[in-house]
Amino acid sequence: MPVNLQHRSFLKELDFTAEELLYLVELGATLKAARAGGYERRSLDGKNIALIFEKTSTRTRSAFEVAAHDQGAHVTYIGPDESQIGTKESLRDTARVLGRMFDGIQYRGFDQQLIEILGAHAGVPVWNGLTDQWHPTQMLADVLTMREHTAKQRADVVYCYVGDGRNNTARSLLVTGAILGMNVRIAAPEPLWPEADLRATAQELAACSGGTVLVTDDLRRGVRDADFVYTDVWVSMGEPAEEWARRIELLRPYQVDTTVMADTGNAHAKFMHCLPALHNRETEIGEQLYQRTGLDALEVTDEVFEAPASIVFDQAENRLHTVKAVMVATLGGSSAGHDAPVFTNP
Ligand code: CP
Ligand code: NVA
Repeated sequence: MPVNLQHRSFLKELDFTAEELLYLVELGATLKAARAGGYERRSLDGKNIALIFEKTSTRTRSAFEVAAHDQGAHVTYIGPDESQIGTKESLRDTARVLGRMFDGIQYRGFDQQLIEILGAHAGVPVWNGLTDQWHPTQMLADVLTMREHTAKQRADVVYCYVGDGRNNTARSLLVTGAILGMNVRIAAPEPLWPEADLRATAQELAACSGGTVLVTDDLRRGVRDADFVYTDVWVSMGEPAEEWARRIELLRPYQVDTTVMADTGNAHAKFMHCLPALHNRETEIGEQLYQRTGLDALEVTDEVFEAPASIVFDQAENRLHTVKAVMVATLGGSSAGHDAPVFTNP
């Protein structure tokens, strides 16, 4: 069966099969090549897209805006505190209003339940640009980036997420690898492990896909043989700043440094991060935390971040191509399917 994602929302990875997720990754790769080769064809001409951001963003907003422009669509940005959402109007009502005006809606916000309401009532595709629980568009970029940086078959790839195992990125990495039949590890102190239900779901998915899942507090065991070591901020957007002290206490031993990279035993191991990263003192938060704790880097050292093995900016670029794939596949009409070419030949 050819994959057809027209009119589908992209709310979380668990709503998608391996074939569907891989289709989006491959379409992202194809769109990337077309853009680089100057033969990209527009399949979103005249579409109107709403970009709702209840939290701040650099990559996700830029990816949606540039992808939409490349494909001929128009965007309307609605930033944090810039609309009636939540204060004077429910999300259910907002969904029914925006669905009358827009062809697709990107939503970045807090609880996943909110975007599920939007998806249920908008009547047009809704795409998750990050919630407290999931970061699915990030996963498409990450899988594409891994594919570009290893010659291994997907089933042989090992990646280890190190850090706050309960956050959106960690949870998404856990289920995405399990769906795709990859070898996923989460190395985190036990209080920061993904919840038991989610661990069980990931194990079930891996049992079906042929993947493996390991959640451990043993950092060395987690990263052994890893092809990719991945980390993210220790305190996520929406969490209170008071969390920093406890998080630093828990996660200081899990900072990704050159020893952690060496512990993979894999000379080709790559470092990944969804960004933004606190790897030096060049940010307000980085400097404040340095003043309070003496740490000049948090989740990753500057040395690892800046090393040749770091592929974080490839990940960032791939947000554009894969976000474009999501919009083209769900909104682009029949020409976006497997059976009909999206592009003219170079
Ligand atoms: N990785 C990511 O989602 O980045 P932004 O918060 O800048 O969008
Ligand atoms: N876990 C991070 C991801 C940022 C892209 C956060 O939610 O802030």
